Amino acid sequence: MSRKFFVGGNWKMNGDKKSLGELIQTLNTAKLDANVEVVCGSPAIYLDFVRSKMDAKLGVAAQNCYKVAKGAFTGEISPAMIKDVGVNWVILGHSERRHVFGESDELIGQKTAHALENGLCVIACIGEKLDEREAGITEKVVFAQTKVIADNVKDWSKVVLAYEPVWAIGTGKTASPAQAQEVHDKLRAWVKTNVSEAVANSVRIIYGGSVTGSTCKELASQKDVDGFLVGGASLKAEFVEIINANHLKPPSPHPLYY
Ligand code: PGA
Repeated sequence: MSRKFFVGGNWKMNGDKKSLGELIQTLNTAKLDANVEVVCGSPAIYLDFVRSKMDAKLGVAAQNCYKVAKGAFTGEISPAMIKDVGVNWVILGHSERRHVFGESDELIGQKTAHALENGLCVIACIGEKLDEREAGITEKVVFAQTKVIADNVKDWSKVVLAYEPVWAIGTGKTASPAQAQEVHDKLRAWVKTNVSEAVANSVRIIYGGSVTGSTCKELASQKDVDGFLVGGASLKAEFVEIINANHLKPPSPHPLYY
C-alpha cells in the first residue's frame, strides 16, 4: 500500500490579502507533482479568501478550531464554520498551541474527535521539547501525545500525523534525516501495536521543523517520512520545491503479501 506524499504549509499568523494572494497565484500556476497532496494552513480570518482564490486541487486548512459546534466561546471558531467556507482540513495540537497557549493533551483529543465527527480532516501534531529529547524521553512523550489523539479517531483515513520536534520548529535546526526516520519508524510501530497493522501501513506520518528547499529531498527519501508540515518556507516560492521533493519511493509492503 503506497502512501500519497503529503505537504502541508503552516502560514501561522503571517501574511495579508496582498502577500497571500501572490503566494496563491504562485502555487496555482506552479508545476506541482500531481502525486502529492498539498494543504495550506491559513490564518482563520483569511480562510474564506484563501479557499476562494486557491486552485481546487490544493487543500486549505484552519490552524485550530474549538471542540463544540457553536455557542458562547468568544474568539473561537468551529469545524462547522470551517466547513461552511469550503475548507476541509484543520491543524490540531501544533506545538505553539500546546506550549504558547497551554493546550492540554485532553483538549487536543476533544478537538480531534469533534473535528472528525464534523467532517474535517485533521493534521494532528506531536513532538518533544529539547529538554525531553536530552532526557531521553522522546518516545515516551510522542507516544503519550499520539495515544490521546488515537483514542479520539475512528476513521484514520482522515488523519495525518505530523511529527514536529519542538526544538526544530522555527529554529533553523532541522532534524537529521536519520533522527526523523527513527521517530517516524517508532511511531508507525506504535500505531501497528495500538491501532492496527492496516492503519500503520496507510497513515501518513509527516515531518515538520525547519524544512527547507535544501533539506527536503534527503528527508523525503526516508522510508517512513511521508511528507512535511512546513512553516517559514511555506510562505516563500521555495515551497514549490518542497512540494516536489518526493522521490519515487518503492511502495511499502502490503501486509497481504507477507
Ligand atoms: P518551521 O515551522 O518550518 O518554520 O520550523 C514548522 C511548523 O511549525 O509547522
